[in-house]
Amino acid sequence: MLNIKYELVENKKEKPDWNKLGFGKYFTDHMFIMDYNEGMGWHDARVVPYQNLSLDPACMVFHYAQEMFEGLKAYRTPDGSIQLFRPDKNIERMNNTNERLCIPKIDPSDALDAIKAIVAVEKDWVPTAEGTSLYIRPFIIATDVMLGVHPSKSYKFMIILSPVGAYYAEGIKPVKIFIEREYVRAVKGGTGFAKVGGNYACSLIGQEKAEKMGYAQVLWLDGIEHKYIDEVGAMNVFFVIDGTIVTPALDEGNILPGVTRNSCIAMLNKLGYKVEERKLAVEEVIAAYKEGKLDEAFGTGTAAVISPIGFLDDGNIKMTINNGEIGPVAEKLYNTLTGIQWGREKDDFGWTVKVV
Ligand code: COI
Repeated sequence: MLNIKYELVENKKEKPDWNKLGFGKYFTDHMFIMDYNEGMGWHDARVVPYQNLSLDPACMVFHYAQEMFEGLKAYRTPDGSIQLFRPDKNIERMNNTNERLCIPKIDPSDALDAIKAIVAVEKDWVPTAEGTSLYIRPFIIATDVMLGVHPSKSYKFMIILSPVGAYYAEGIKPVKIFIEREYVRAVKGGTGFAKVGGNYACSLIGQEKAEKMGYAQVLWLDGIEHKYIDEVGAMNVFFVIDGTIVTPALDEGNILPGVTRNSCIAMLNKLGYKVEERKLAVEEVIAAYKEGKLDEAFGTGTAAVISPIGFLDDGNIKMTINNGEIGPVAEKLYNTLTGIQWGREKDDFGWTVKVV
């Protein structure tokens, strides 16, 4: 059991309107911090008032981006208790990211203790409005004061919390996505599979371009041939082609192994759908569209949940999918997944973890 010290606030913030949360705009009263130093390992776990950090401007995180983050959620169930969804998968991915970025791993049970402890302290911040949850953002930064390019020998692991509603303004309504042919997000051998801020920093230019044209996000293609579908940046992507559900395989290491992605595949298999994880060329999707066989497209992610894609733009080819409406597969997945996450349906998979 992680030994955590508590310093609690006296005056709590006023809670926002649960019906107008948006995504990532409000933060709770406390945060979790734990330090790492060579020779000591991870130490000094503490829950403290949410506060600014004081860091030397030469800290390595500011210069060489030795940083990682995770994202998971706490949900309020009908009986008022609070549960997490598959935190073990996020913790496993956190340590895979740490390995890739030369950041020391965190004992998985310590990481889970830390997440449960901060969520328990902030239990009143788990919102109650339909479709809302408490987004949990664990992250690690390199804090050595040093301009040489080497792995840091000191780090801070922190967890902040934000009550959230839908990630996209569209909510569960289908989003419009632009197929990005110029910029790439990740390459084989790079950090695409890891949850590092740098992946998102390099995606901003494409994202900005797409937003200016009225799109919610970008569909990224592989970094070598610009031919195969990777992901959408804030979500993994699935296509229903002639009744078969296809999602890009993870084996090239340039796609984030989403926890929601993994859960959707498990649920689809259990529901008896035909699912294929494989290389998927964007031309195959376009050909399916032209033949009238592109039944549905949707993204999956912790923040995005299940987000139907109603329109795909590839420059000259504009594809309206399922009349711009949510399709039956996305709807079934949304209902099954959110039913388990919010505790409305029985969790046959054993995915949920009670906090309080
Ligand atoms: C998540 O879905 O939790 C993410 O981290 C995606 C995005 C908000 C960066």
